[in-house]
Amino acid sequence: MDQQHIQHVQPGHTDRPLIILGCGYTGRSIFPLSLQRGTTTWATSRNPAQQLAAVPPPQRLEFDLACPATWNNLPPGADLIWCFPASPLSAVQQWAVTHRARFNRLVLLGSTSAYETTNDSTDYPPPWIDETAPIDQTNPRVQGEEYLRNELGAILLRVAGIYGLGRNPLDWITQGRVGPSRKYVNLIHGEDLAAICLAAIEKGAPSEIYNVSDGTPYTWREICETAQQRWGITSSAAHANPSPGKRISNTKLRTTLGYRFKHQDLYEALALIKSASGS
Ligand SMILES: NC(=O)c1ccc[n+]([C@@H]2O[C@H](COP(=O)([O-])OP(=O)(O)OC[C@H]3O[C@@H](n4cnc5c(N)ncnc54)[C@H](OP(=O)(O)O)[C@@H]3O)[C@@H](O)[C@H]2O)c1
Repeated sequence: MDQQHIQHVQPGHTDRPLIILGCGYTGRSIFPLSLQRGTTTWATSRNPAQQLAAVPPPQRLEFDLACPATWNNLPPGADLIWCFPASPLSAVQQWAVTHRARFNRLVLLGSTSAYETTNDSTDYPPPWIDETAPIDQTNPRVQGEEYLRNELGAILLRVAGIYGLGRNPLDWITQGRVGPSRKYVNLIHGEDLAAICLAAIEKGAPSEIYNVSDGTPYTWREICETAQQRWGITSSAAHANPSPGKRISNTKLRTTLGYRFKHQDLYEALALIKSASGS
């Protein structure tokens, strides 16, 4: 592993600028929080003029992993929070080989979908999954993540389902995208995810993996029943999804990054989202 360029910084040390690489849903929450660091934050988009309206023009950068001509737009010496799938592997490798010396610490957002599920397992509820569980190495995104983790010391966050304002699970139920099945779902509020990204930049250990979820897996049946009782919301989806889903452990996140959640109670968070969105 080559970690020459990875700095082992102390928490709270904030003289490094930050680049939010791919400033979409999560990036838009990271941006205002990052201002507390007291250093410059840049945000990237493939189309900054259209997509980065909330970012002051001098802090907008054009970056596209598929377009090497944009790679030199990233100012050197910054920390990076990489917020889109790290694939294809060939592009990730080409970017890393040519640009590894230009950045400081790298936090990479992955997905809990990286963890393999065994269809033949009869365990229910499914066993808890921690960061040592087997992953699907055939998944191009997982290949990119493992490359950046092993070769560049990227701090990898394996992220559960992201919800929050504008991404409301109650809407998913209303629209019939989910129904009252026995499948377990793991969620993380976007505001917590943004804060965890910044905590990982400060305190995460290079090449380490942290599962990011609120720590309370629910079955969709439980969520649908509560949605019906509290808000009179009913799903039109079939009830037949037999998949057990996964139960993601966030013990490492809580114990080694010491993160304290702002939104740990899903139903309180849903009530806040509902009232904030006026629905
Ligand atoms: N949604 C979920 O429930 C969920 C669950 C687990 C993990 N994740 C992962 O968590 C990360 C953050 O999720 P999110 O929902 O905040 O993502 P998002 O809203 O899609 O934001 C990522 C942004 O990255 C930019 N981007 C995409 N492809 C790019 C490329 N090839 N080169 C440069 N920029 C690119 C896009 O912005 P422009 O179009 O402006 O360039 C996009 O809006 C993603 O990696 C996602 O896959 C999401």
